[in-house]
Amino acid sequence: MRFSIAVPEDLLNAFDAQIARRGATSNRSEAIRDLIRSSLVREELRTPDAQVIGSLTMIYDHHTGDLTRKLDEVQHDYTHEIVSTMHVHLDHSNCLEILALRGQGSRVYELADKLLGLRGVKHGELTCAATDASLEL
Ligand code: NI
Repeated sequence: MRFSIAVPEDLLNAFDAQIARRGATSNRSEAIRDLIRSSLVREELRTPDAQVIGSLTMIYDHHTGDLTRKLDEVQHDYTHEIVSTMHVHLDHSNCLEILALRGQGSRVYELADKLLGLRGVKHGELTCAATDASLEL
């Protein structure tokens, strides 16, 4: 299948530079296929039925539409899962937000998907691990 996507120029340039460092056999299509595969593999590592702990890191421009309100709105529906949050004003535009999470895997992944899916979240990453029940975390 062929498809076209819109990407900011600086982002595409950085991506192309990364592809070039991998050598002549790599190209943009192959690099994007790799990204899709690794995203799907990460999905398989999810443990919706387990208790998990984790952290969610986001970087966003707080000027983007009503992004901060939406981020807030979503987080207020997951007060059982969000243990703590840290917000750092990086510069005039950008914010770094780190959420410490604990709870049912399905709920934690759902929260991460909702937040990272919001338009304007430039970088987002959930790091998560299932906890042993005996740890009573
Ligand atoms: Ni801020």
